[in-house]
Amino acid sequence: MAAKDLIDKYLSFFQARGHKIIPGAPLVPENDPTTLFTSSGMQPLVAYLLGETHPEGKRLVNIQNCFRAQDLDEVGDNRHTTFFRMLGNWSLGDYFKKEQLPWFFEFLTDNLKIDAKKLYISIFEGFDKIPKDEESANIWKELFRKKSIDPQERIFYYGPEKNWWSRSGVPKNMPEGEPGGPDSEVFFDFETKHDVKFGEKCHINCDCGRFLEIGNSVFMEYKKGKEGFEKLPQQNVDFGGGLERILAVIERKSDIFETSLFYPIIEMIVRLTNKNYINHAKEIRIVTDHFISAVFIASSGVYPSNKEQGYILRRLIRRGLDNFYKLEGKNIEQVIHVIVEQYKDTDTYLVDNFEKVKNIILEEEQAYNRTLKNAREFIAKKYGTKKAGGELLGMTEISADDAFLLYSTHGLSPAQIKSLGYAFDEQEFARKMEEHQKLSRQGSGQRFKGGLADTEEKTVMGHTATHLLHKALRDVLGEKVHQTGSNITTERVRFDFFYEKKLTSEEIQKVEEVVNQKIKENLPVHFEILDIEEARKKGAIGLFNEKYGNKVKVYFIGGGLSTSSGRPYSAEFCGGPHVNFTGEIKSFKIIKEEGLGKNIRRIYAIVGE
Ligand code: ALA
Repeated sequence: MAAKDLIDKYLSFFQARGHKIIPGAPLVPENDPTTLFTSSGMQPLVAYLLGETHPEGKRLVNIQNCFRAQDLDEVGDNRHTTFFRMLGNWSLGDYFKKEQLPWFFEFLTDNLKIDAKKLYISIFEGFDKIPKDEESANIWKELFRKKSIDPQERIFYYGPEKNWWSRSGVPKNMPEGEPGGPDSEVFFDFETKHDVKFGEKCHINCDCGRFLEIGNSVFMEYKKGKEGFEKLPQQNVDFGGGLERILAVIERKSDIFETSLFYPIIEMIVRLTNKNYINHAKEIRIVTDHFISAVFIASSGVYPSNKEQGYILRRLIRRGLDNFYKLEGKNIEQVIHVIVEQYKDTDTYLVDNFEKVKNIILEEEQAYNRTLKNAREFIAKKYGTKKAGGELLGMTEISADDAFLLYSTHGLSPAQIKSLGYAFDEQEFARKMEEHQKLSRQGSGQRFKGGLADTEEKTVMGHTATHLLHKALRDVLGEKVHQTGSNITTERVRFDFFYEKKLTSEEIQKVEEVVNQKIKENLPVHFEILDIEEARKKGAIGLFNEKYGNKVKVYFIGGGLSTSSGRPYSAEFCGGPHVNFTGEIKSFKIIKEEGLGKNIRRIYAIVGE
């Protein structure tokens, strides 16, 4: 059965039971700053689950495109994907357990002809003041008995970590006002061999891959209150079924990537890499999953960048490419093509967006290749000369400092650094990472006032240009010049500084020349986390009226990959982000200079033209 037929069957089954079909929400949610992506069908319906009236009534059904970034590292096994489609049906204070569970069972066993003997059920065992869900257990027992199946070894009880659902997970993580409730999940038994790596005995929630969870009925009747849980004004049902997983059951594939939905994509990757699926399943599944997600996210108007959705898109493309290159794959465009073919029946806009999506992915591939090249050149320069012969065989041992620099200035993950052939002290790296994360959390508060409005590439280029401009102004006009503010957008750079006089046209020209010279020199940009005193000793400048902690982040321009390898051109306290090399700024032009009064001047400039 094709994915599209399964969708149609599901929608008509619930339509025949009084449900209205509602459209899926966009993958990148509108007006919901709490989350980057839509990750379940209920997300756009929270207000209605809490009691608002839905314009389509109390019984709803739909198909929702979902993306779950938290599953990124799990991709590679037989069942996890970051992008998936959820079959959803909801009761907004209408029917409850005794309708929902029999309907789902009927849909699986009578409509889809799935063998009931292969189905297993999990039930909430109770927690705190919320009782064990005996009602659901009794309904399931009756349903199995009707099929002449002994329910005894079918039904298993679990606590809130497995059988409670809310957007924030287990009860203790739920914020006040958040709805949630006990759930009951259905598993299919593929009867594959248990792998003891996942525990001595297999059970329905085991990770060995034998049992596949295919649907989850959440009985959403609680809300987190000040003093624990309160009942919502209505009893809701929030059901979510995994389209790809139900398809795997129908097509009897214990590996969802072997279903008719994914296999043409797998075959294309096999063709482009000349590797077989059995021996390289993990890498091929990652390439498949990550590029499907990348196609859908890029189609939603997101561009690769260093923040939020753009950062996730960048990570998906780069991690997908790492695995594709590891298999010696070429021509990723063909993979994008077959993905669009596979999804165009249900998501027709993918066809119209094909060129745009393809270009976004291919441009990111080029940017990534430039980053890899620069990183290799730097390491070769620094470590290549230290060893006889220069050319290094096997892994090159680099310091944790330099590995961290590759991470912080080139955006390479530890796995990517290792895949380039560099070994380093991973514990030391993890320690630096922790320190960095702590600081960036504090850090965001240390940004320049009126600093970055976004982290689009052009804005980041402008940001590094302001550091060059600051230093060039000091070179040309003297050390009393200091920055008082900045505001950078993709259109222009605005830079305010202390200086008593209007600049002459010669001075403006000279400053412009210095900045362009530094761009031409293609100086590396990197940061170091330093004690504030050490930073001052290294000549770091910044907005000293801002509050800093004991540790500060200092961005250096020039001076090699680390300041130990030469004197930097510029050193400034700053939260980042910046370009990796000044050459990326391409050009710098001052378009206006004006006075703001009280010895403060303002420069407008453009970059990258
Ligand atoms: N909201 C429930 C889930 O995502 C159905 O599993």
